[in-house]
Amino acid sequence: MSDSTRIPAGSTLEIRDLKVSVADKEILRGVNLTVRAGETHAIMGPNGSGKSTLAYAIAGHPKYTITGGQVLLDGADLLEMSVDERARAGLFLAMQYPVEVPGVSVSNFLRSAVTAARGEAPKLRQFSKDLKAGMDALSIDSAFAQRNVNEGFSGGEKKRHEILQLELLKPKIAVLDETDSGLDVDALRVVSEGINRFRAGGDTGVLLITHYTRILRYVKPDFVHVFAGGRIVEQGGPELAEKLEAEGYEAYTKATA
Ligand SMILES: Nc1ncnc2c1ncn2[C@@H]1O[C@H](COP(=O)(O)OP(=O)(O)OP(=O)(O)O)[C@@H](O)[C@H]1O
Ligand SMILES: [Mg+2]
Repeated sequence: MSDSTRIPAGSTLEIRDLKVSVADKEILRGVNLTVRAGETHAIMGPNGSGKSTLAYAIAGHPKYTITGGQVLLDGADLLEMSVDERARAGLFLAMQYPVEVPGVSVSNFLRSAVTAARGEAPKLRQFSKDLKAGMDALSIDSAFAQRNVNEGFSGGEKKRHEILQLELLKPKIAVLDETDSGLDVDALRVVSEGINRFRAGGDTGVLLITHYTRILRYVKPDFVHVFAGGRIVEQGGPELAEKLEAEGYEAYTKATA
């Protein structure tokens, strides 16, 4: 995608031969993937193929044991970093199943997240302004900021909250795990527009994990990867997503079984 005469402004996430185990079971069996600034990569694949495991391993979830390979952000070893250091380095993960944080309001949570990512607390007045702008852009009601994080949130509210984080944190690389699941058509459009605003600067990279091509109609990927049996088994352009929707994953799951 990049013009070779131009030096890209943003970052590069490099996943090299990544192997990950969960509860002593090998789930990722050598994943290779490079996401450059300005690129959007979609990962599609059957249930249980290891897509979320990839996202969690990159984000540093303690349950996921790295047994081989490397993950580099602009050449720096992400796997050696604490979760906070990863956020400061510019990584963001939107989880498939975001957790509840009882007793912590959305507003306080987001301010802490911005503080962790920047290494210093944002000025309250500016933060409140940014928060309001972000919520308006995502058609989120203002009362939402005072609710406890994810407590009683509907599926759609959880996903909007993830995109609100994206807007406020402005990471270099965003990993979005099924941000489209459970969204009605209007919410899907609002969330997709949020992702597209995030991409518009051209200096950020997106790794979008999804089951459905409908989000890819709004958020056009540059590359589509098929994930099966803990590794990438095919790569292509946006047309590959259409083919998967029509034909399913059987051809890939048979080959990796
Ligand atoms: N914390 C865990 N404990 C035990 N097994 C786990 C854990 N996390 C993942 N696994 C197993 O690893 C495999 C891959 O799971 P993962 O969630 O990465 O799949 P996925 O591709 O994201 O699936 P889906 O499309 O359903 O979200 C599954 O067999 C799952 O049961
Ligand atoms: Mg998953």
